[in-house]
Amino acid sequence: EDPRIHGIKTKIRVVPNFPKPGIMFQDITTLLLDPKAFKDTIDLFVERYKGKNISVVAGIEARGFIFGPPIALAIGAKFVPLRKPRKLPGDVIFEEYTLEYGRDRLEMHVGAVELGERALVVDDLIATGGTLCAAMNLLERVGAEVVECACVIELPDLQGRVRLNGKPLYVLVEYH
Ligand code: PRP
Ligand code: MG
Repeated sequence: EDPRIHGIKTKIRVVPNFPKPGIMFQDITTLLLDPKAFKDTIDLFVERYKGKNISVVAGIEARGFIFGPPIALAIGAKFVPLRKPRKLPGDVIFEEYTLEYGRDRLEMHVGAVELGERALVVDDLIATGGTLCAAMNLLERVGAEVVECACVIELPDLQGRVRLNGKPLYVLVEYH
């Protein structure tokens, strides 16, 4: 394991019973407060993806908007935001996904990603995998190839990887 991972792990704050009882919330805002750990996080992704011909980094609202753009700039890719409903002003395509209670959706601007583009999907965390699955579907519907999904944290006990249909997922930290 890369020696930088340990430092990153120690900067992620776990908040019990937020936003509701029984949830151990993985708070990455404490990681952002530490410039070294934040930079190490971005560097680890950049080292993995530079030179891989990725033309688009798609970041998932909200915390994929923190980690995605610095990765995109460093590897020379464009950044495309995948947003919650009714936030994007142009024409959109959308994918719905299930949450613990109810449904949510992600939207992407039509024309932001073109046929044949090589995409990296970025978010802070994978839990059940529903969010990443919806993001991948958006990109694949417009003919992009999802090269990989990248998250800072995985909750492996929830088996979110199963929802990704074999698509590779790269994470820095697992929380059991
Ligand atoms: C959290 C997290 C991921 C998603 C993972 O976001 O940031 O995006 O849940 O869950 P899943 O793998 O079970 O789909 P949330 O939906 O809470 O919204 P936010 O990022 O806007 O706060
Ligand atoms: Mg999120």
